Amino acid sequence: MIKPRLAWAITGSGHYIEECLDFLLTLDDVDLYISQAGEEVLKMYGIDLSDIRAKMPVYRDKAASAPPVGHFYKGHYHTFVMAPATSNTVAKCVLGIADSLVTNLYAQAGKCRVPSIVYPCDTAPEMETTAPGGKVMVYPRRIDLEATEKLRTFEYTTVVDNVDELIIKVNERLKTLK
Ligand SMILES: Cc1cc2nc3c(=O)[nH]c(=O)nc-3n(C[C@H](O)[C@H](O)[C@H](O)COP(=O)(O)O)c2cc1C
Repeated sequence: MIKPRLAWAITGSGHYIEECLDFLLTLDDVDLYISQAGEEVLKMYGIDLSDIRAKMPVYRDKAASAPPVGHFYKGHYHTFVMAPATSNTVAKCVLGIADSLVTNLYAQAGKCRVPSIVYPCDTAPEMETTAPGGKVMVYPRRIDLEATEKLRTFEYTTVVDNVDELIIKVNERLKTLK
């Protein structure tokens, strides 16, 4: 029996992406999953995938059926973290859509009763966010905020509102596994 690991997904959101990565890189026993947009966006923020690869396995979104999600059915993962999560991915998740690697991971985690911790980029009507050139203001629409609220009601799901809370919730979860 292999030791269960943490599955972490990055989507195409620049929202506190560097802070999310800084924390992620402090953790052990993590597999990283990246959406197609996530790969592009990481490059735009000057983040080199090969640096991350040196620390952990990285799965890219290259197949229609998202084969690595089978890992959930074999007990490979104790927790799924999605941070940061785009409006697009959150909207799909709350509709039950699983048509990409990351939306599949969220759906299959739920179906396998594996807890998910999600940091959506739309948590308030007015926010500071990270563009490639620096901080900018963003005004999430009602539909984006409604999707975040709906996700909070999903089973096996914890939604966090900022990076500090993300760190607390992930650490709490890891502590319960010790
Ligand atoms: C530099 C950059 C930053 C972006 N940041 C965000 C973001 O913070 N939130 C968001 O919802 N979309 C953001 N996008 C747009 C998404 O990448 C786009 O909607 C993409 O289709 C999302 O795909 P995914 O959800 O599969 O990762 C950004 C795009 C670029 C180019």
